[in-house]
Amino acid sequence: MRKAYIAGNWKMNMTPGKGAAFASELAKAAKDAGADVKIMVAPPFVTIPAVIDALKGSDIIVAAQNMNDHKSGAYTGEVAPEMLKDLGVNTVILGHSERRSYYGETDEFINRKVLLAIEEGMDVVLCVGETLEEREEGKLEEVLSAQLSGDLMNVSAEAMSHITIAYEPVWAIGTGKTATPEDADSAHAFIRSFVAKLYSSDIAENLIIQYGGSVNASNVKALMAKENIDGALVGGASLSVEKFLPIITYNK
Ligand code: PGA
Repeated sequence: MRKAYIAGNWKMNMTPGKGAAFASELAKAAKDAGADVKIMVAPPFVTIPAVIDALKGSDIIVAAQNMNDHKSGAYTGEVAPEMLKDLGVNTVILGHSERRSYYGETDEFINRKVLLAIEEGMDVVLCVGETLEEREEGKLEEVLSAQLSGDLMNVSAEAMSHITIAYEPVWAIGTGKTATPEDADSAHAFIRSFVAKLYSSDIAENLIIQYGGSVNASNVKALMAKENIDGALVGGASLSVEKFLPIITYNK
């Protein structure tokens, strides 16, 4: 049985002060509403300590949105996994399409980070997804296969329990356009079957696959009702309690 996993990617929003206030409000609201899904928030690096402090005593997981592919050293402006772990952060989002497209992250680079995160004992939310052009050219499966095999290269079968996949069609991110539940489910089914080929059907069966791209209070139920959709990676609608609470209590 796969437990629903809903994550809020704050992107470059929320100062430490705002993030802490929001996180306390969210934790209280989630508790009062009896939310019973796995919940994660990913604040910007500098906001992480204040959010961790605000979420003491709550089950909400605090993750990072990225990390460097080295353990330490002369990498100006970068953050190493050890620094995150020292704060108590054990989960990292890798391969987000904004990092792929704005910062030129390749599958090879993302793979180095995935391997380092695993080596450091961290959990990874690995994002994959196609652009509109790729979808229209019928390349969905080709793109997903290349991303999955590239990003997961040399990741052992044992390590796969630390990997969550987020399927995020690039054309649905921040655009208000959501994949239909059917389209999302069929992409998820493809991802699951591909992981079964790379690893085993057991690993594929246990793999949590989140959908991301304009998830909101009105579409979350239909998406989550699909067999292969196990969670959501939410951007815009994760930034207020009013919008995020109905998503993390979709099953109430
Ligand atoms: P969105 O972002 O919900 O604002 O579309 C999702 C994401 O990028 O993870």
